[in-house]
Amino acid sequence: MCGITGFTGKSRALPFLLQGLEKLEYRGYDSAGVTLVGTEELKTWKEKGRLSVLEEKLDIAHCPQRCGIGHTRWATHGIPSNLNAHPHNNMDNTISIVHNGIIENYVELRADLEAKGFVFASETDTETVAHLLDFNYRETGNMRDAVYATIAGLEGSFALCIVSCYDPETIYVAKKENPMIVGKTGDAAFCASDATGLLSLTKDVLPLDDGQIAILKPGSIELTDFAGKALEQNWIHIPYDMEAAQKGGYDSFMMKEIHEQPDAVRETLRGRFDKNDRIRMDEIDALEISWERLRRVYFIACGTAYHACIYARTLFDRYADIDSFVMPASEFRYGTPKLDADTLCVFVSQSGETADTLAAVKLANEKGAATAAITNVLGSSISRTADVTLYTAAGPEIAVASTKAYTTQIVLLICLIMKLAEKTGFVIPDYAHLVADMKRLPQILTEILKLEDTVGQLADMLKEQRDAYFIGRQLDYPTALEGALKLKEVSYVHADAYYAGELKHGPIALIEKDTVVVAMATQPEVAAKTMSNIQETIARGARIILITDSTIPAERFEYVLRVPAVREELAGIAAVVLLQLFAYFTAKEKGCDIDKPRNLAKSVTVE
Ligand code: F6R
Repeated sequence: MCGITGFTGKSRALPFLLQGLEKLEYRGYDSAGVTLVGTEELKTWKEKGRLSVLEEKLDIAHCPQRCGIGHTRWATHGIPSNLNAHPHNNMDNTISIVHNGIIENYVELRADLEAKGFVFASETDTETVAHLLDFNYRETGNMRDAVYATIAGLEGSFALCIVSCYDPETIYVAKKENPMIVGKTGDAAFCASDATGLLSLTKDVLPLDDGQIAILKPGSIELTDFAGKALEQNWIHIPYDMEAAQKGGYDSFMMKEIHEQPDAVRETLRGRFDKNDRIRMDEIDALEISWERLRRVYFIACGTAYHACIYARTLFDRYADIDSFVMPASEFRYGTPKLDADTLCVFVSQSGETADTLAAVKLANEKGAATAAITNVLGSSISRTADVTLYTAAGPEIAVASTKAYTTQIVLLICLIMKLAEKTGFVIPDYAHLVADMKRLPQILTEILKLEDTVGQLADMLKEQRDAYFIGRQLDYPTALEGALKLKEVSYVHADAYYAGELKHGPIALIEKDTVVVAMATQPEVAAKTMSNIQETIARGARIILITDSTIPAERFEYVLRVPAVREELAGIAAVVLLQLFAYFTAKEKGCDIDKPRNLAKSVTVE
């Protein structure tokens, strides 16, 4: 969630550092800072608040330095403040660092350094690293050795950028469990915590793996492990450009991304059907697992991606006679999951960087389970940790609230279930019909987006409301959960989701005159049951917005939105678009910062 940029070259560093940080703003932050390197001294500026506050303090036109580092911080250790903002420097301002992650042994390190006379200026774990570098520089007499000695003494997770006036053209970059990407041109080398920060200069990038140090000098990059052994460099090409990360005509990234869903789903499905209309998934073919022995499947993720997992597990459980489970990653890693060689764990993450999900992948790997990741970000940590990775092709998702990532995750999860049916022998009824409807999904999503204005009018109902309730059964339940999450995160209206049949076991006590209930009834088998539950809320004065399929009778309801005719397994992919729009319009009516909701960050790289 924090952002890092670094630049060393033959031109001024500051413009790249600032524009890179701007590109990373979407990740969420509460302070920003930069250090520029001269041979005599380092110059550091840092400010609590937005990047623009920092820019006001900088005399941008008069900063000729050609090497520097920048950071946007999202507080973990120590409140948001100028002192706690990064970069952090040693006492005589000759070494400066920025850091994402958490130094777990900082308490011991700090006590040790304080005993040696080092004086700390902040409450952060990060500052410890600056003083430790100073100590090691005094011991070794050169910066390179000081960096390796320091990294060896750190526990926890880090993406670190280190500059010093002892080595004024060099940036040392170290990575463990936090993302870091480096790139170069003829006369410059640079880094960022996310590819978006580099795209203005190059599309060919080198994502660092855990345990790697990159040494950046103008026009060159040296890659080693933490012991200093030279490593092969695996460069990749980023297939999208900055243009794709712009708002392109919409007033927010969220709205743009909602509208990108037909394309995102089309791209995600591209190449997934063979000439016989069976699912093509070479990644799953490559998985080392004995399919006849497969005993259980876990679906694991956080937040919106977790809702996609609930959807997948509900569907898998309907068709397969293999035990299946769905768990939030933060619980999975501390619970007692049954993991062995006959277990498949499926991890879903838009960013591919979520700390809890990454830790869950590592746990499953350690226990010998087969691990498959579904992620949207090429070269992300989760993609490099799981045994195999399936990529959604949603393109960069900038709005904090996830939309196109969710629908593409479900689409790919359904493909995966179809593939697992083939591998393990369970039957999906009327497979050919399902394939035909999956191919129609982009068109169905285009149709549903035409209801935008109607949803906009309905959202008016919610702007004055304190609470809203979302209900549904079976595959409608994860859609209800996702609708409630979207509404609360962007519009701050309190929203809860329940299995429709659970209402009368408690939550119905909250329903009173004019309470808004968004009821999902897209699943023909359970629609009649849901209708009875809706009646129970109407009897208590609730106002109902009903989302249903094209066949279920609903004349009695004032506010009805219908998803186009489609197989019931896919109805939730269309229905959720209405709920995303609903959240968007409510937030807009209330004047909320739609793309950057308060307290949230795009990528949650701390536990
Ligand atoms: C909500 C949202 C979050 C993420 C969650 C997991 O709109 O975006 O709930 O879904 O933080 O993030 P990823 O998918 O990047 O692992």
